Amino acid sequence: MSQLQMKKALLEGLRQICPCLDGTDELQVHETDWRGRHFANALGVTLPTTVEEVSQIVKFCRLRNIAIVAQGGNTGLCAGAVPVSGQSRWQLILSMRRMNHIRQVDPLTDSLTVEAGALLQDVQAAAQQVGRLFPLSLGAEGSCTIGGNISTNAGGNAVLRYGNTRDLVLGLEVVLASGEIWHGLRALRKDNAGYDLKHLFIGSEGTLGIVTAATLKLFPPLRQVDTALLALPSYTAALSLLKALQTQESLPLTAFELMSAESISLVREQFPQRLFPLDDKLKTYVLVEAGWSSRPQGDVFEQALERIWEVCDVQDGVVAKSEAHAASLWEWRELITEAQLRAGPHLKHDISLPAFCIPEFIEQTDAGLYSRFPGLRVINFGHLGDGNLHYNISVESVISEMDLQAMQAEIENFIYGQVCAMNGSFSAEHGIGQTKTQHLRHYRSATELSLMALLKRSLDPEALFNPGKVIIEHVESVGLI
Ligand code: FAD
Ligand code: MLT
Ligand code: ZN
Repeated sequence: MSQLQMKKALLEGLRQICPCLDGTDELQVHETDWRGRHFANALGVTLPTTVEEVSQIVKFCRLRNIAIVAQGGNTGLCAGAVPVSGQSRWQLILSMRRMNHIRQVDPLTDSLTVEAGALLQDVQAAAQQVGRLFPLSLGAEGSCTIGGNISTNAGGNAVLRYGNTRDLVLGLEVVLASGEIWHGLRALRKDNAGYDLKHLFIGSEGTLGIVTAATLKLFPPLRQVDTALLALPSYTAALSLLKALQTQESLPLTAFELMSAESISLVREQFPQRLFPLDDKLKTYVLVEAGWSSRPQGDVFEQALERIWEVCDVQDGVVAKSEAHAASLWEWRELITEAQLRAGPHLKHDISLPAFCIPEFIEQTDAGLYSRFPGLRVINFGHLGDGNLHYNISVESVISEMDLQAMQAEIENFIYGQVCAMNGSFSAEHGIGQTKTQHLRHYRSATELSLMALLKRSLDPEALFNPGKVIIEHVESVGLI
């Protein structure tokens, strides 16, 4: 049988289970990552609507040695949801987007059960409809799925108050590599009956199982949310401001986001019609948000800011006067990712550090990069309240994509070397995908790597799920790459 005939037969077999796309045009968007940097051919894109269909697809692929790449909204920033090139076997994209129902919202237990392909913003809306809050929030919330959030253990803008996705999950339903379904949709707040299996799958980036549904924690809604954009003379001042705000009585901070002056300049260049509300010559900007589940007496937020304004050396600032005003301030933060994409060649470094090291890290790393690599622009922003910087790189127009690719390894090694020396992590919230597998090998100990490989081997002995992502030693050792 020719390759083409074999492909046709496989697709026909898959279509006995559920619809499957295979046209070149319709596949391309699923085969290319969000940044448009990684592309590899897939056998097709299968579109199940039930957990039973997912189970049948897994069994079908297992019998025929077809790899499965789970995909949600494909907004991941490490190319984990697209096939990898150089594989000797077919890779099937399993899109969860049609499996998107809210199964149950239960205000009594403050929980919500949802299928993995639901958009994050639809999960937020379902919680809001019953007077509750699902607090996970990130720039891609209109297109990422809850299954993708769980599989990457997404962070986002409200980690400071509510934790990472891992902290918001009560139970999971997962299809295992055997095709068996694990029914773990429990809504209990306490459950120490053996190992907590859901945590194996949370953050495993589709390498250990296919998440088909989740039971999530709900919270009281926020009756009042206050937002301010402030300018500061240094990163040290920004961190002192964070500490000062955290020690203010009755100021429940939900977000503390950083934007360097260079990040703001990039947004202004790419979106020239936008008017920045503060003096744009200052060093660094922070977006501060506090939320109350019962309305406070008086103007607590502005009063708190006034008390610390001078002590913390705040140089300029604006407090949002309405929800629309707050949204327009947030846009300066959320547009940075899009601005980098529009500006062309760029690198992403999603790092975390102990908070007290951050000013020194930025000073030393900026200086090292600017002296060694003329033409780079450090676009530093992110979740400062969590010690998580998106210490990204864009370039002056004299540097091409090819130039940057030639420098990439040296730049990354320099940045990650600094991170490692300060006991930080080279991957704070985006995961490993296919772009950071070599860094995982380098920066995790032999003990950690062999434990990860052992887990992979135990749960997915034939390396069916997402080969070439996260931990690849096992896949190599069984000769499947
Ligand atoms: P995908 O990209 O489709 O998949 C991501 C990984 O999960 C892949 O490895 C995939 O195989 C696996 N996967 C997906 N669904 C399943 C499933 N059902 N079962 C098993 N495996 C699965 N991330 C943050 O953490 N914080 C941010 O603040 C943030 N901001 C962003 C802003 C923008 C503008 C963009 C484009 C991205 C941002 N991201 C952020 C990254 C991304 O949105 C998150 O990683 C998100 O959780 C991915 O969800 P997704 O549905 O798009 O997953
Ligand atoms: C964000 O927080 O906006 C994204 O996680 C960062 C990025 O685009 O690098
Ligand atoms: Zn982020």
